[in-house]
Amino acid sequence: MEKEIMNDVKKYQKLEKLKKWRDEVEPIPWYFDGLENLCDRIHPEKQILQVTDIQELSKDTKLFRFVSTRQNKPLAPFRAGQYIGLTVEINGVRTSRPFSLVSSPNQLAYYELGVKRKQGGFVSIYLLDTIKVGDILEATEPLGELYYNRVFHGKNLVFIAGGSGITPFISLLRDISQRNLDLNVWLIFGCVSKDDMLFKDELEDLVNRRSNIRVQYILSEPGPNWDGACGFITKDNILDQIKSVENKFFYIVGNRAMYSFIKEQIKQLGVSTHRIIYESYGIPDDVTEIIGWPKDISASNTVNITIEFLYQGKKIKETFEALCVEPILNSLEREKNLGITINNGCRSGACALCRTKLVAGKIFILPEVTMREIDQDYGYIHPCVSYPLTDIHIDLTLI
Ligand SMILES: Cc1cc2nc3c(=O)[nH]c(=O)nc-3n(C[C@H](O)[C@H](O)[C@H](O)COP(=O)(O)OP(=O)(O)OC[C@H]3O[C@@H](n4cnc5c(N)ncnc54)[C@H](O)[C@@H]3O)c2cc1C
Ligand code: FES
Repeated sequence: MEKEIMNDVKKYQKLEKLKKWRDEVEPIPWYFDGLENLCDRIHPEKQILQVTDIQELSKDTKLFRFVSTRQNKPLAPFRAGQYIGLTVEINGVRTSRPFSLVSSPNQLAYYELGVKRKQGGFVSIYLLDTIKVGDILEATEPLGELYYNRVFHGKNLVFIAGGSGITPFISLLRDISQRNLDLNVWLIFGCVSKDDMLFKDELEDLVNRRSNIRVQYILSEPGPNWDGACGFITKDNILDQIKSVENKFFYIVGNRAMYSFIKEQIKQLGVSTHRIIYESYGIPDDVTEIIGWPKDISASNTVNITIEFLYQGKKIKETFEALCVEPILNSLEREKNLGITINNGCRSGACALCRTKLVAGKIFILPEVTMREIDQDYGYIHPCVSYPLTDIHIDLTLI
């Protein structure tokens, strides 16, 4: 009997402890007006952002600062490393691109994005040349899987950035430094020249203040007066920095070519793929150069895309001409008269938000994109990274 009473007392004490702990870790303590609002706060369907500052980071990169225009509703919280999809309308074409959040997740007064001009690009050029303070843009909630996971990633992190791929790492480093996290970080930052060493002062300051953060620059076109490392990031200069790959977790962010190259280099050091996470920025400049692209399909080949969608409750069918070398999503957005787009986030085959039913036709999918087996079996595709090789038929009503 006495033993049973003691057990009850212990259970009660445990429960009280749990309750106290739950109160202490209340995730968003300043927000008390109900679960629905809390969900909307964390996962707003969209966010309306206003540009408050624009700062030049280099000759082809600018930092944009945004605040929320939703009254009494601050920006959605995020994890350092995540991105938002920014929607723009350019000459009637409504499209969007993902951009990693640069700002620290520990304040939500504003978001910051660092945008680099892409030669021959579309949205990056528009943002850099046209957007001004006061402009209003629509954005998604924060998305993406590139963030620190303390259960799986351990305490030794190797961040490998190429060019504008530095942006999520700035947010991660700000977070690590501000919260004084007990982590060892090696940042290896590949840039073209000294002018491209984005956030150089901030990184230098971090290295001076934090003994657990180390930064190594590698310049591919260093020019005179540079006595640091030169060339591309290879397994040798990674190992030179981190000494051993044991117990280390790797993050890679940069363009597709850089990611594929570095991933192979790291694998050659004996790192298994489950210790690597990555974000590859944007679509390839020339998809015909990607391994697996059919040799007989040239850059000028066109096909017909037939699309079925709902308009005012009725199913409509439209057909338009598209280039084989353009992702289906981009071609659809070009057809501004249709006024439709497909929901999207990463535009790189990772988030599955654009998942669409392919009814007929042959497509090319970028090689490193992984699709759910069930989607492949039932003919669903990611049109953001799928290219039409023949006439195709897609049905947006079949989700
Ligand atoms: C998760 C993630 C995070 C990213 N974070 C950053 C970041 O922090 N900073 C950064 O600089 N970049 C970032 N990027 C890359 C960014 O999303 C864009 O890919 C990059 O800015 C280039 O976009 P762009 O539109 O200029 O070029 P592209 O995306 O290459 O656009 C060119 C394409 O636009 C289409 N197009 C061209 N003209 C037209 C037209 N008239 N009408 C319709 N379509 C047209 C064509 O399909 C053309 O191929 C990130 C990418 C990902 C996936
Ligand atoms: S938009 Fe993310 S997979 Fe297509």
